[in-house]
Amino acid sequence: MTDPGFGVYVHWPFCLAKCPYCDFNSHVRERVDHDRWRTALVAEVDHRATLAPGRTVTSVFFGGGTPSLMEPATVGAVLDRIALRWPVAAGVEVTLEANPTSVEAGRFAGYRAAGVNRVSLGIQALNDADLKALGRAHSAAEAEGAIRLAHRHFDRVSFDLIYARPDQTVAAWEGELRRALDLAAGHLSLYQLTIEEGTRFHTLHERGELVVPDEDVAGDLYEATQAMLEAAGLPAYEISNHARPGEESRHNLVYWRYGDYAGVGPGAHGRHTGSDGGKFATRAHRAPEIWLERVARHGHGLHESEAVDAGARRAEFLMMGLRLAEGVPLDRFPAEAGASMEAAIDRAALDRLVAGGFLAVADGRLRATAEGRQRLNGVLRMLLA
Ligand SMILES: C[S@@+](CC[C@H](N)C(=O)[O-])C[C@H]1O[C@@H](n2cnc3c(N)ncnc32)[C@H](O)[C@@H]1O
Ligand code: SF4
Repeated sequence: MTDPGFGVYVHWPFCLAKCPYCDFNSHVRERVDHDRWRTALVAEVDHRATLAPGRTVTSVFFGGGTPSLMEPATVGAVLDRIALRWPVAAGVEVTLEANPTSVEAGRFAGYRAAGVNRVSLGIQALNDADLKALGRAHSAAEAEGAIRLAHRHFDRVSFDLIYARPDQTVAAWEGELRRALDLAAGHLSLYQLTIEEGTRFHTLHERGELVVPDEDVAGDLYEATQAMLEAAGLPAYEISNHARPGEESRHNLVYWRYGDYAGVGPGAHGRHTGSDGGKFATRAHRAPEIWLERVARHGHGLHESEAVDAGARRAEFLMMGLRLAEGVPLDRFPAEAGASMEAAIDRAALDRLVAGGFLAVADGRLRATAEGRQRLNGVLRMLLA
């Protein structure tokens, strides 16, 4: 039940406009040479297959940026190449992130014909004033139209909302969540707004021109979110992700269960377990043009590939796994944390966190409670000290 599987992440780095809160590897370009990009992404699939020969692909995720700006033929070419280079599991999950402004029926039909079977829409808010404040180009009506259109083409549809926005009240957010639940299928991603360095929001925040809810209000918003979604049958399976049981994003579970994945495209990360049991990390050049040029010249755009040392591996294993409601299986500690749980983490810190109601050990697993997941950074600081 908790086999992580093996995923392939494909990054499309272009957007129509840069949102003021976003620090993802996304860029605005006048023109994109789609043929060159198709050739380069396919070439990187060939390269990554040499790093993980024989793995069975259980999920593919087109993320961005705005992958719904990709030509369906490019999505199809990448998927065909993946199937040529690796065995692909029956029932593989293939997700594409889509922006409400760049989807129409023709594109959805094209993606579906190419093999996409799940879409994740970046809705962010369901009222026009907040969409404007978030710098989004779509209206609430367009967002709803995009969700409905997605349901017509795909059995599995998720969408993202951002909360803890400036001036947001719990009552307003609950109203919006009710609307979201009416529109949702089996999965919703609900992210608390973070002010990321290097973004326009960061500059405004520093100047005191953008005020976000304080910790107490943010905590209330988080708790209201957990309660409503749980009552609706979509409990949190991860800090920000909610699903009807069985509808979890299998691709994201690969990351959180600390499985291996290949990262294709600019800035994409990968994790691979070598034949000696050691893990290594790959990272591609972030800048789209540099990545493209490197792929043309060397057949891949990798910036670096390095061993994940024992300390980093233990930290990654816990940082990923404790995000999940299911937590981490104790029997994976020897391989991922170098020793049994008792030997790998500080006993006094563990006891304090369990007594405080932040962690629990039961049924062969260590997991963070809802309280613990809300304060995961602090919990991890204590555990990993
Ligand atoms: C890589 S983005 C891609 C989504 C798609 N391009 C879109 O904007 O519609 C994935 C999601 O991350 C979330 N996100 C991005 N920046 C964020 C921030 N600063 N705080 C909270 N959530 C954020 C948004 O909900 C977004 O939909
Ligand atoms: S939120 Fe989405 S559309 Fe906006 S800049 Fe980031 S990746 Fe692009």
